[in-house]
Amino acid sequence: MTTHQTSTQVRERTICSQPLSLSLSVSLSVSLCVSLSLCLSVSVTLSRCLFSSLCLTLSNSHSLTLTLSLSLFLTNPNTLTKLFRSICAAISVFAPSPNQAIYGRPQNKTSWGGNMVHYQGQWHLLVTEMRSGGLINWTTDSQVVHAVADTIEGPYTREAVALPVPAHNPMVINTTDATGQPLFVLFHIFSGGSALPGAVVHYSASPTGPWQAAELDVPSCNNPAPMLHANGTWFLACNEGTWELYRSQGNFTGPYTKVAALPKNPPLTGVWEDPFVWIDARGNWHMIGHAYNEVLMENCNKSLASGHYFSPDGLVWHAATAEPYHTAVTFTDGTTHTFASLERPKIIVNGQGQEAYIVFGASPDEHCNNTCTRCKTTPGYDHTYTLIRPLVI
Ligand SMILES: *[C@@H]1O[C@H](CO)[C@@H](O)[C@H](O)[C@H]1NC(C)=O
Ligand SMILES: *[C@@H]1O[C@H](CO)[C@@H](O)[C@H](O)[C@H]1NC(C)=O
Ligand SMILES: *[C@@H]1O[C@H](CO)[C@@H](O)[C@H](O)[C@H]1NC(C)=O
Ligand SMILES: *[C@@H]1O[C@H](CO)[C@@H](O)[C@H](O)[C@H]1NC(C)=O
Ligand SMILES: *[C@@H]1O[C@H](CO)[C@@H](O)[C@H](O)[C@H]1NC(C)=O
Ligand SMILES: *[C@@H]1O[C@H](CO)[C@@H](O)[C@H](O)[C@H]1NC(C)=O
Ligand SMILES: *[C@@H]1O[C@H](CO)[C@@H](O)[C@H](O)[C@H]1NC(C)=O
Repeated sequence: MTTHQTSTQVRERTICSQPLSLSLSVSLSVSLCVSLSLCLSVSVTLSRCLFSSLCLTLSNSHSLTLTLSLSLFLTNPNTLTKLFRSICAAISVFAPSPNQAIYGRPQNKTSWGGNMVHYQGQWHLLVTEMRSGGLINWTTDSQVVHAVADTIEGPYTREAVALPVPAHNPMVINTTDATGQPLFVLFHIFSGGSALPGAVVHYSASPTGPWQAAELDVPSCNNPAPMLHANGTWFLACNEGTWELYRSQGNFTGPYTKVAALPKNPPLTGVWEDPFVWIDARGNWHMIGHAYNEVLMENCNKSLASGHYFSPDGLVWHAATAEPYHTAVTFTDGTTHTFASLERPKIIVNGQGQEAYIVFGASPDEHCNNTCTRCKTTPGYDHTYTLIRPLVI
């Protein structure tokens, strides 16, 4: 079960998606079949995702925990220890990254995360770019830029400003409108040049724009991270001090109502900000985001870097006890670089719904002589950029 951790050619994968060995499955099933109803529920979950369903059930039921603990212990004591420490947590296993930056460095600009969609044979990146200077002026100087590439890993060519200042933290989703025409929805913070009052979202029939503003009807949502459910319902992950999930009763503009406030005080102590939400190929919900504390700062890779919650249904959430990623990145040329922080994680799934890439706003200067999370806005060290990391599927 843990062989995926032995590789230095790392990739990210949730432990939930690791196939269980047959003996472990059989042992679990046997010890769980103490009642008919339990047996039925286990049989159902077995056919879908034995492991994730079980670990989610675990958190809710003490008696089941005991049964499981015992059966796992009898099966393999090492498994037990590992399992309960990092149950259902995402394991940081990445493939080497091809480029130091997909956006920012090549353009001699400061950039800070974004995501890309595939359309008409090209990849279209919508990304934060500072009009001039470094990230320190992000509240006034951020604009959203459109760039294109033939492959997802770039290099990306800057095309145009999609949204003028101030516009920050973009995330684009591609879908179709009611008539079946392409529809691109661009979430962001700040006005993006719109005169509409309150929060706005932009949309277009093409990733090249032009982008039209619409009012976003949500009570409060810092750094909205949208997700379009396969059934057509829009969700927003938000950072309201704690992580929250909102669901739309209408189209992408809302109205949004809160469906989940994630548990406070996750076991990894620190500040958890700006979640990204997705549903994996097995139907499990996940949120990951930048997390930090200001305790271990001499090596930013040892400092708290990220947080992860998971859920069977988007309503009941559990905090993982392991971080989904750290800040040391290995590149295809064999070099490794420890970033001060990797933030705004956005997962890009492939056509099979599998996590294929993760895109970050990357703060490169670990030794800026400031705390890791603050390097990104430390004058002289604030030339951040956008990084893509492949995940082996
Ligand atoms: C990059 O931009 C900075 C200012 O933002 C400028 O000082 C520097 O000369 C530029 N370098 C190149 C290679 O264009
Ligand atoms: C949307 O983009 C994704 C990649 O980000 C691609 O897999 C998918 O085919 C696109 N869907 C549409 C409807 O264009
Ligand atoms: C950026 O921030 C610095 C420091 O606060 C300030 O002096 C400078 O005028 C700002 N530049 C822009 C373009 O806003
Ligand atoms: C789509 O699925 C989500 C998650 O289960 C649910 O909250 C939402 O109501 C569903 N929407 C529709 C239109 O069925
Ligand atoms: C979204 O839905 C609202 C309410 O039905 C409607 O007024 C608005 O035109 C829709 N917006 C878009 C961009 O489709
Ligand atoms: C970074 O942290 C990860 C996870 O703790 C660890 O596996 C890796 O060896 C560390 N790398 C460096 C360069 O410290
Ligand atoms: C940061 O601090 C270390 C230790 O005090 C020092 O060696 C290094 O030169 C400093 N770096 C910068 C960029 O000031």
